[in-house]
Amino acid sequence: MTLRPIITIPDPVLKQVSEPITEIDGSVQALVDDMLQTMYDAPGIGLAAVQIGILKRIAVVDCAKEDEKPAPKVLINPEIISASEETSVYQEGCLSIPEFYEDIERPAQVRVRHLDRDGTEHEFDADGLLATCVQHEIDHLNGVLFIDYLSRLKRDRVVKKFSKQAKREATG
Ligand code: NI
Repeated sequence: MTLRPIITIPDPVLKQVSEPITEIDGSVQALVDDMLQTMYDAPGIGLAAVQIGILKRIAVVDCAKEDEKPAPKVLINPEIISASEETSVYQEGCLSIPEFYEDIERPAQVRVRHLDRDGTEHEFDADGLLATCVQHEIDHLNGVLFIDYLSRLKRDRVVKKFSKQAKREATG
């Protein structure tokens, strides 16, 4: 397993739509393992393949609390098949937007269909933090970031901050 560098805004790859996985082979499984290791190392509770520069519809999440056993979920070609009218608000963050957090409102419960690491299809109901996390990761696969739900003013402010930072790093 290899730790992969995580891409941050304003890298345009984060706005691209990822392609479905058509065959789960050893290289896809190795990628999944790298993603899990990279997520836990960060540390984070979710990571989409696009965040390490790979435009494939794969995400990993683990929303277990610190005192609970790890509960990794591998989501290949994940789809939200239903979402509740009821919403909930969580303070979200993103490994691609380090140290920036904002409250985001999303459906409180979702039903998700996906393939696992072995290519077996599953469906599960998510609520609470897991529901938010899964929606956030599936958004990544569609080129959507949580800051896209903020007002234009707030979003521009954070993008500007990261753009300046990237420029500084590039010019050394
Ligand atoms: Ni994210």
